[in-house]
Amino acid sequence: MKHLLSLEDLPRTGIESLLGRADGWRKTALSGQQPRQPLTGRTVVNLFFEPSTRTRSSFELAAKRLGATVLNFDMASSSARKGETLADTLYTLEAMGGEIFVVRHAVDGVVAGLAEVCADGTRLINAGDGRSAHPTQGLLDMLTIRQRKGRDFSGLSVAIIGDVRHSRVARSDLHALRALDTGEIRVAAPPALLPDASELSGCLVCEDADSAVRGADVVMTLRLQRERMEDGLVASLEAYFRDWGITPERLALARPDAIVMHPGPMNRGVEISDAVADGPQSVIRDQVSNGVAVRMAVLEALVAAA
Ligand code: CP
Repeated sequence: MKHLLSLEDLPRTGIESLLGRADGWRKTALSGQQPRQPLTGRTVVNLFFEPSTRTRSSFELAAKRLGATVLNFDMASSSARKGETLADTLYTLEAMGGEIFVVRHAVDGVVAGLAEVCADGTRLINAGDGRSAHPTQGLLDMLTIRQRKGRDFSGLSVAIIGDVRHSRVARSDLHALRALDTGEIRVAAPPALLPDASELSGCLVCEDADSAVRGADVVMTLRLQRERMEDGLVASLEAYFRDWGITPERLALARPDAIVMHPGPMNRGVEISDAVADGPQSVIRDQVSNGVAVRMAVLEALVAAA
C-alpha cells in the first residue's frame, strides 16, 4: 500500500489487516505512552482545504503518538490564498521534508491527482475528497461495528439513512461493508438524496426510514451535506427530521441491541435527535476514539510498506 486513496483499492484481506493493526493500537491510542514509535524521524503534513475537527485532530494525535513531527498546514494564511496551485503547495512542503500527506479537499479525485505528481517517497492519505471517498472513516466505522457485533458481518443488517448522494463517508462505508460480506445493506433516503443506482449494487433500497430501521443491527445516519447540494433539495429541515431523522420512536423498530452511528459533525434535530445521539445505543464517541487507532494503523502501514 503506497497511498490510501480509497477503500476500493483494498481487498477484504487488506481491510482486515488494517482493522487488526488498529485493534492492536486501540488500548494505547488515547494515552501519551506508546510502546512503539515507528514514525520517529518522519514528517506528517495535514493538508486540509475543507474544515475538519475529528479527522484532522485524530491524524495529528495518531502521528504524534507514533513519534512523527506534524505540520498542520493553515489554508487561511497560506500562499494558496495568493493562487499557488495544489501541486506547487505539495512540492513546496515535500522540499521541506514532508513525507506523508493527509489531504482533504472539496474536489473529487484531487488526492488521486496528487498521487500522479508527487515524489516517489511521498505517501498520500485521502482524508475526504468531495463526495468520493473518506477511507479512514470507512475503516473506523468497520472497527466500531466489529467491536460491538463481532468480526463476522454475514449475519448483520446495516441500515444507512440520510444524505447518501453527497456523502463520501457512505461511499467508503458501502465499499467496506460489501468487502466484509455484510449480510444485508439497507439504504434509505429521500429520492433527491439517493445516489445513482449503479452505486447501490448489492443494497436493499428502502422507501422510508422505518422500513430501513426495522430489525436492523446497525443504524447509521448521515449528515445533510448542505455545502455540496443545490438549493431546494431539502424543502424543510423539520419535515426531513420527521421523515428521516433517527428518534427514540424510530430506533425502537431496530433490534433491541442495535447500535447507532453517525460520522459527525451532527446536525442535532435534523438527522438525529439528542436523545438518540446521547443515548445508550449510540456509539458515536466510540467512532471518534477509534479514529485515532485507525489512523495510527494506516500511518504505520504506509511507513512499513515504504
Ligand atoms: N467525520 C468527519 O470527517 O468529521 P470531520 O469533518 O470533523 O473531520
